[in-house]
Amino acid sequence: MPVVVHEPAAVVEACDRARSAGERVGLVPTMGALHEGHLALIDEARRRGAGYVVVTIFVNPLQFGPTEDFDRYPRTLDADVARCAERGVSLVYAPDVRTMHPAGFQTHVVVEGLTARLEGAHRPGHFRGVTTVVTKLFQVAQPCLAVFGRKDYQQWKTLERMARDLDMRVTLIGHPTVREPDGLALSSRNRYLGPAERARALAIVRGLRAAADAFAAGERDTRVLEALVRTPVTEAFDRVDYVAVTDPETLEPSGERTGNRALVAVAAHIGTTRLIDNCVLGEDTPPTVP
Ligand code: PAF
Repeated sequence: MPVVVHEPAAVVEACDRARSAGERVGLVPTMGALHEGHLALIDEARRRGAGYVVVTIFVNPLQFGPTEDFDRYPRTLDADVARCAERGVSLVYAPDVRTMHPAGFQTHVVVEGLTARLEGAHRPGHFRGVTTVVTKLFQVAQPCLAVFGRKDYQQWKTLERMARDLDMRVTLIGHPTVREPDGLALSSRNRYLGPAERARALAIVRGLRAAADAFAAGERDTRVLEALVRTPVTEAFDRVDYVAVTDPETLEPSGERTGNRALVAVAAHIGTTRLIDNCVLGEDTPPTVP
C-alpha cells in the first residue's frame, strides 16, 4: 500500500528520503476519482524512470468557477488509494482545502497568453487555479518529472510554459488521451452521464475522427475541418462552448489553412455535464469509431 499523507511537510520528508536513497521522484497530480487514464499516467512516470511515484489527490477549488461542479465532483479517496496500490505508487498526498489554501492565502501563479483562449476564455480563473496548485505540488515534491494527460491539452501546454518560464527543474510529460473502446475519452466527469447522454457524447468522437480522416486525406481548409467536428457536436450536445482549430503550440487560431499539424479542440455540454476533447491532426492517433 502507498503511504498516505495529508500535510506538505510529510511529502517533503518522504521525497527527500527517496532521493537520498537514490530514487527519481515522479509526480502525477490528480483530482482523484482515478480511472484507467490516471493509471496510465502512473505507469508512464514509472516507464520514464521514476522509482518513487507520488500521486496527489486534491479537488482544487481555485480552478472551479462559481457555477461549476466543485461540490459534486466525485471524492473517492479509499478506492483511489487501492488503485494506487495496484500500480505500485509509493506516496499519495491528499491535502484538504485548508492545508492547501490556508486563511490569508493570496499568492497565485499566472501564465498569460496561452491561457487566453479555449478553456481560459470559458472558465475565467481556471488556469490560474491550476498553475498555482501545481506549483505548490512541485514545490513540496520537487519531482524530476511530472505526467499530465493530453485530454487537457491546453493545461499541459500551459504547465509546460510555466515550468520553462520559471526555470522549474522538472520535466513535463504529456501522455496521450486514454479512450474507451468506443472512443470516448476517459474523464472523471463521464460518471455524470446517463446511458442516453453517454451515447450522445460519442458525437465528439465521430467529429474528431472525421476531421482526422479528412486531414489525412489532405484537407487543410480550417473551416472545413472545424465544421466536420462542429456539425455532429452541435446536433448531439445541448450547448457548444467552442470547436477550434489552432496551432498546437501557440493555441492561436489557424488561418484559412492549417499547417501539417493542427490542434482541433472541443468543449460542449450535455445536460449539466461539460466534456472536453481534442486531437492533434497530423500527430495523434485519431479515436476509433466502432
Ligand atoms: O488535471 C487535473 O486533474 C487538475 O487540473 C490538476 C492538474 C490535478 C490540478 O488540480
